[in-house]
Amino acid sequence: MIILGIETSCDETALCLLETQDGTGDFKYRILGNVIHSQIELHKEYGGVFPLLAKREHIKNLPILFEQIKKESRIKDEDIRAIAVTEGPGLEPALWTGIVFAEDFGKKQNIPVYPVNHMEGHIVSTLVEDSKPHKDFRPLKPLLFPALAVLISGGHTEIVSTSSLGSYKVLGRTRDDAIGEAYDKTARMLGISYPGGPEISRLAQQARDESLPEDITLPRPMIHSKDFDFSFSGLKTSILYMLKEMGEISEDDKKKISREFENAVTEVLISKTKRALGENEYHSVTIGGGVSANLYIQKAFGKLCQTFAIPLYLPAVGLYGDNAMMIALTGAIKIAKDLVKTKSPSGIKARGNLLLESE
Ligand code: KG4
Ligand code: ZN
Repeated sequence: MIILGIETSCDETALCLLETQDGTGDFKYRILGNVIHSQIELHKEYGGVFPLLAKREHIKNLPILFEQIKKESRIKDEDIRAIAVTEGPGLEPALWTGIVFAEDFGKKQNIPVYPVNHMEGHIVSTLVEDSKPHKDFRPLKPLLFPALAVLISGGHTEIVSTSSLGSYKVLGRTRDDAIGEAYDKTARMLGISYPGGPEISRLAQQARDESLPEDITLPRPMIHSKDFDFSFSGLKTSILYMLKEMGEISEDDKKKISREFENAVTEVLISKTKRALGENEYHSVTIGGGVSANLYIQKAFGKLCQTFAIPLYLPAVGLYGDNAMMIALTGAIKIAKDLVKTKSPSGIKARGNLLLESE
């Protein structure tokens, strides 16, 4: 069966055509096409994602990308048997564009449209080896349950206990800024354009490589709190005051601030994850979302998992951030396992604040 995945929850317009092997018992898939159009350049001047601009761009780009992916993968409209579309969480005006596109095509072809939770997609994105099209049918990586999923992106920071695919309990989440948002805001204060995560990380690594003096200290917010919640907005305020006091800053200062910032957020993430792993038995850890592309954070999680002697699952390269492969795959797995939600008679609705537990 060929399924079309659609993702428009934020500033990436993404489509994926995925084929699953039916009737063989084990779930196997192959990627026929996977395209992403990023709007980052357009949103740069706003220093973040501007929802109505995102909506306009999704509406413009969806039909273009759809034609492109069908051409590249030599698939015709009638070959597509189902659609999986992100219903939330995300920016509602942006989510609606994908939902309307999905429902229009679903009606035209008389095929079902399934709503997918974007955060579940980030968990599922750790189950594949590659984000590029391939000819052979492949099995999923065998995720060991119960798994602890750490979701870190520009919009979310959550620790999720996962007893099986589709069965989630959010242990903690950020009370204010998401970790990626904290990277982006720190970057902005240092004069680095949106999205600043990768650049802050590069500067931080330079500070480590050059062994610059460790004379800058930032707080580790909520590191000792007894829950699994996070708060990153205080870091932004601390950096703001620090910059006011410092006046003009040098390139080395930028590197040192970046390093201390990255150390602070990583320590908090690791400390909370470690406590969750200590309180209950988990057989694996997954990390997903844009910030999981961060090598320093990946290494820290790798070390943590080693001490607990459990595997760490990372998204395939190209699937760290938002993409439609994870949406198509989540839809396909749920159809195969008979876990799909039935669509309400009034159709799918954009659910900006959708939680994982509300599945
Ligand atoms: O998952 P994503 O593409 O979009 C959502 O927010 O859903 O994540 C984007 C976020 C941005 O805040 C960006 O700065 C951050 O991920 N990011 C990184 C890195 N690459 C992307 N943050 C830290 N280090 C990175 N290497
Ligand atoms: Zn995301």
